[in-house]
Amino acid sequence: MYKVISLFSGCGGADLGLQGGFSFLGKRYNRQQVEFVHASDVDEMAVKTYNHNFEHKAIVVDIKKLNFRRGFADIVIGGFPCQQFSTVNPTKNPNRKENQLFWEMARVIDQVRPKVFIAENVKGFYTLEGGKYFNLAKKEFESLGYRVYHRLINCADYGVPQLRQRIIIIGVRKDIKSDFIFPKPLHGMESSPKNAWVPLKKVIKSLIPDDERFYFSERAVQGAKNAKPNMKRAVAQDLEKPCLTITSHLAKVSINSRDPVLLVDPKKEKYRRFTPREAASIQSFPETFEFPVSDTSAYKQIGNAIPPAMFWHIGKTLIALLEANKVGMRGTLPSNMELITGYIEFI
Ligand SMILES: C[S@@+](CC[C@H](N)C(=O)[O-])C[C@H]1O[C@@H](n2cnc3c(N)ncnc32)[C@H](O)[C@@H]1O
Repeated sequence: MYKVISLFSGCGGADLGLQGGFSFLGKRYNRQQVEFVHASDVDEMAVKTYNHNFEHKAIVVDIKKLNFRRGFADIVIGGFPCQQFSTVNPTKNPNRKENQLFWEMARVIDQVRPKVFIAENVKGFYTLEGGKYFNLAKKEFESLGYRVYHRLINCADYGVPQLRQRIIIIGVRKDIKSDFIFPKPLHGMESSPKNAWVPLKKVIKSLIPDDERFYFSERAVQGAKNAKPNMKRAVAQDLEKPCLTITSHLAKVSINSRDPVLLVDPKKEKYRRFTPREAASIQSFPETFEFPVSDTSAYKQIGNAIPPAMFWHIGKTLIALLEANKVGMRGTLPSNMELITGYIEFI
């Protein structure tokens, strides 16, 4: 069993993916050889959802207050907060160091010195200001003694019914010799053999849910129709294709934004937002994963989550790398004292 520290756990999308042991759209994602020794988030409602769905429990705490002893875990994972790097809806100044929580993730990695880590973020983190923030993080991770591998991946390529581009950053401690190779796309243009992306219709059971609260009012639709041409409008989704990216902004989805919505009846011009359950499925959460919180909290947690189906593939590949390096690992340790003390508890 590989011991895992989960930072910025949210409701547990990444954690479910890494852990496995769930089904989604008829596919079984097997349990992986991991044991969570720590999971936390600053958001109480996200931790409530997490603890409802996992046997192990997360705690509510600010990452800045966390300290770990060296060797406490083999794997550290964290999708650090991304609002400030969002190209669509930035809410914080990315230049302020206190908004760049990857420094905190790096601090934990430095304390624990895990064998590997996985960080995740929005595309903007990779592209904003010519990659300035990504390069800062990469340099910092490298300076801690890790080889860094990264790829901008599309979650739809891994069976998620959503076009969601995310930067995945993998760190492999330098004494582990193997290179990390990203898993090949299973769907889409780059898949071989060719396998189509999973379309949205696979997770929309009924286009017409009974609950009126998911529909936009006639007034809102008319307002959007009469708005100036340069105003933003919601994007009615094609059920035959994967959904456009859903965000944490889901609870405030409006017909006057670029949010993905459903056109239920073209003649009556009836539009609606996704239900929380549909949003969870668009993110590849299994039906069994429950959100025992308000719709507002559920939408936020779901929109923030790392799709479990995608993360399962990343996790599986990384665990295979660790397994391949298990035998003779001691022999491959460098004579560098700092790394060897990595196995001794001293904090
Ligand atoms: C991108 S979301 C993580 C999603 C999660 N990994 C998942 O897959 O469901 C980022 C998370 O960081 C949390 N967060 C923000 N600031 C934090 C802090 N200072 N300490 C701990 N968690 C924080 C947010 O509450 C949010 O849940």
